[in-house]
Amino acid sequence: MNISDKLRLLFHNTESICVLTGAGISAESGVETFRGSNGLWSKLKPEELADFNAFMRNPELVWEWYNYRKKIIHNVKPNPAHFALAHLQELVKDFTLITQNIDNLHIRAGSKNVLELHGNIERSYCIDCGKFVADVEVSLENKVPHCQFCNGIIRPDIVWFGEMLPEGVFEAATEAANQCELFLTIGTSAVVYPAASLPLIARENGAYVVEINMERTEISHSVNETLLGKAGEILPQLVKMKEEIKG
Ligand code: OAD
Repeated sequence: MNISDKLRLLFHNTESICVLTGAGISAESGVETFRGSNGLWSKLKPEELADFNAFMRNPELVWEWYNYRKKIIHNVKPNPAHFALAHLQELVKDFTLITQNIDNLHIRAGSKNVLELHGNIERSYCIDCGKFVADVEVSLENKVPHCQFCNGIIRPDIVWFGEMLPEGVFEAATEAANQCELFLTIGTSAVVYPAASLPLIARENGAYVVEINMERTEISHSVNETLLGKAGEILPQLVKMKEEIKG
């Protein structure tokens, strides 16, 4: 890994870090990413599975897909990248973790106050009364779960294409991006907005922006540096560097 002297120094000194993660941080846990030649969206149609109108047309199909993903996610574990970020939170005074992932792996690794931009597959809610339900189990006889209070259809708490982000979450993420000294954008193709605007907002407000990814992305030309490689290898090294300084 080629870390610039500037990043080394900043990483040593800063007490203000904001992190944005995407599907790539969970790839080493065995969760498929969305884009690229092997990504989920190369095999499946998002407009049939991640769209409210598609859900209303065929909730069985959408539930079947989310139950399948839930099973995969339940069977995987956080990887060294998730654990490194949970540890980094303990070492820095102002730390914000923003994720586009719905896989709950940051929380399972011990991260606190995670800003989940796109929801969480462990939660569901009623489309009529809005009440939240934890981890809905869908029985085989009744594939689409219904609300125990009002009998409305229950949907996964996932932000689908064209939907608003959860109230207040993007505002909190923007504030953290505005105020941080160092911004890390990790394992995201940076093509889905508004999440992809966060590194740009940070840069505009004077933060040093570092991308960690296996390849260059849409925003590589707008960041201060890109560290090419696996998040599960790079992040533990970076955090170790910080830990050594803290003594
Ligand atoms: P993508 O699948 O678009 O991008 C994943 C990125 O991770 C790519 O740039 C890969 O190069 C990189 N990557 C893969 N393995 C990596 C590794 N081990 N270490 C570091 N980087 C790695 O995923 P997102 O950018 O998260 O939305 O996609 C954004 C949103 O699009 C998702 O949240 C989802 C999807 O539609 C919703 O579900 C609402």
